[in-house]
Amino acid sequence: MRRPAPVTAVLTAVTTGALVLAGCGSDSDSGSGSGGSRADLSVSGAYMPQPVSDSMAAGFLTVSNKGGTKDELTSVTSDVGEVTAHETVGSSMQEAEELDVPAHGQLVFKSGGSHLMFEKLKRQPKQGEQVTVKLHFAESGTVTVEMPVKSATYNPKTGH
Ligand code: CU
Repeated sequence: MRRPAPVTAVLTAVTTGALVLAGCGSDSDSGSGSGGSRADLSVSGAYMPQPVSDSMAAGFLTVSNKGGTKDELTSVTSDVGEVTAHETVGSSMQEAEELDVPAHGQLVFKSGGSHLMFEKLKRQPKQGEQVTVKLHFAESGTVTVEMPVKSATYNPKTGH
């Protein structure tokens, strides 16, 4: 009895391909023999509070850099709408200009501070769903994050 080729194999290939560092146009030092000098990024703590607006939402995450070279977040894209990085200045917010991930440091988006701003939403994310966010870095290429949607009042410190 023959069975069709498993679809999961195809999906795995596509997902893996998306993780390949692509579009890195700079002449970044590939550093053969000088290990540890490149940016080494990881993303943690990503979440989106369920938006109360049908056109705007905020998202939070932390980018950590274990490498010895700084990187820079150049743009953010998502399947649900347009994304910009905002920083809170006093009681208002504006588009963030400096989005460096320092060597051995972090770029933090957290409630009350900088945040990812989702606008022109194509759909309104609901609690329990996931939003796919692609972070584009100058050195490290694209990092894809599955951002879980939490309750509108979710606080990562308490877990509620
Ligand atoms: Cu904002």
